[in-house]
Amino acid sequence: MSGVTVGVLTETAADERRVALDPSAVVRLVAAGRTVLVQSGAGKEASFADADYEASGATISTRRAVLTTSNVIAVVRALDEALIDDFHTNQLVIGLLEPLTHLASMQKLADRGITAVAFELLPRTLSRAQSMDALSSQSSAAGYRAAIVAAATFGRYLPMMITASGTATPAKVIVIGAGVAGLQAIATAKRLGAVVTGYDVRESSRGEVESLGATFLTPLVTTGSGAGGYARAMSVEEQRVQRAELAAALRSFDIIITTAKVPGKTPPMLVSKETLATLRSGSVCIDLGSSDRGGNIAGSVEGHTTTTSNGVTIVGAGELASDLPASASQMYGRNVVAAIASLIPQDRVTIDPSDDVHRGIVVCHDGELTNAVVRSAVGLRSLEASVVGLEVAAS
Ligand code: NAI
Repeated sequence: MSGVTVGVLTETAADERRVALDPSAVVRLVAAGRTVLVQSGAGKEASFADADYEASGATISTRRAVLTTSNVIAVVRALDEALIDDFHTNQLVIGLLEPLTHLASMQKLADRGITAVAFELLPRTLSRAQSMDALSSQSSAAGYRAAIVAAATFGRYLPMMITASGTATPAKVIVIGAGVAGLQAIATAKRLGAVVTGYDVRESSRGEVESLGATFLTPLVTTGSGAGGYARAMSVEEQRVQRAELAAALRSFDIIITTAKVPGKTPPMLVSKETLATLRSGSVCIDLGSSDRGGNIAGSVEGHTTTTSNGVTIVGAGELASDLPASASQMYGRNVVAAIASLIPQDRVTIDPSDDVHRGIVVCHDGELTNAVVRSAVGLRSLEASVVGLEVAAS
């Protein structure tokens, strides 16, 4: 038996259908000499049967056995308290842990001697990090799905249709936030035949939107790029300007897809209640920025579809990748396998303090918060690189 056992659990978040490893990821791990334990039924919602995992080389197990036997636990979503209590010292947990909005959980993991690895903290612009880029793989799935959900919810054709029974004009779609999810939503809506516009505050987004054949709506705030290729948070005045300019522009659109996020911050509210009141009955809004801390669209409720009194449907869709569970899990599994290969090249967790990827994604290790951004968020100074670089046995 290999020194490293990777465990996969059934996700417990409501409506979460993804699983952290699909059978093809298991094949890769087993080929690399890892042992893989999968909780019975973990892949069911993503259409992966226990038998598929067994055929790929995994062992099907109980939740308890996965938790007690695995050196590495791969998850999709942030951890709840009960799960953290079930981990044991020297285990490594990897996932979309939302570290900056779950600081108490990160501290608890550190205190318990667990190594936490959060994909959100990956330095995504490094080309060697791209195989681990779970934010991009999941945003891509969500953006694609957003256009599909919008088309399925909208009561009219998206493309122009000229038939013997009459002519349909093409639907007008605007995508606010032209990052990974937004660009995928634009591309998909274009393929469905809609007339598409993109909007973003990062200067580089104009070219990306136009290269997909969409129109770019130039924002009045045009210096919105922040660190790491992300947008910075807008000031109160900039937010007011944005809401006003969008209020004037949005009334001519049939479908609004919003994806605007700022890492670790509350998503900006861009489509106000007043703006919604100006939209035509039958319009559809898909809010990928939706979360339990608010979203981009007034009144959107994460995981729920609501309809305004003037007939506008608002879909709160902050976790829409879960709506494409098989593909999203397949891509996510590749990201997990790549991260494990980097952090555990053989039978030991080996964190290299000179490696930007390791310094980014490792939140805590050997009893200490190590990531500089997380340390700063809890009011701690950065650790000296030499203190971060420890090698521990994957127990
Ligand atoms: P995200 O999910 O954090 O945000 C989505 C989009 O919302 C971004 O395009 C952002 O600019 C936009 N946004 C934020 N606040 C806004 C506001 N107030 N108004 C309008 N738009 C707003 O970002 P995502 O998609 O994860 O990454 C953003 C960009 O980072 C990518 O488009 C890319 O340029 C860069 N990136 C580069 C990578 C690489 O070089 N390999 C990998 C990943 C991202």
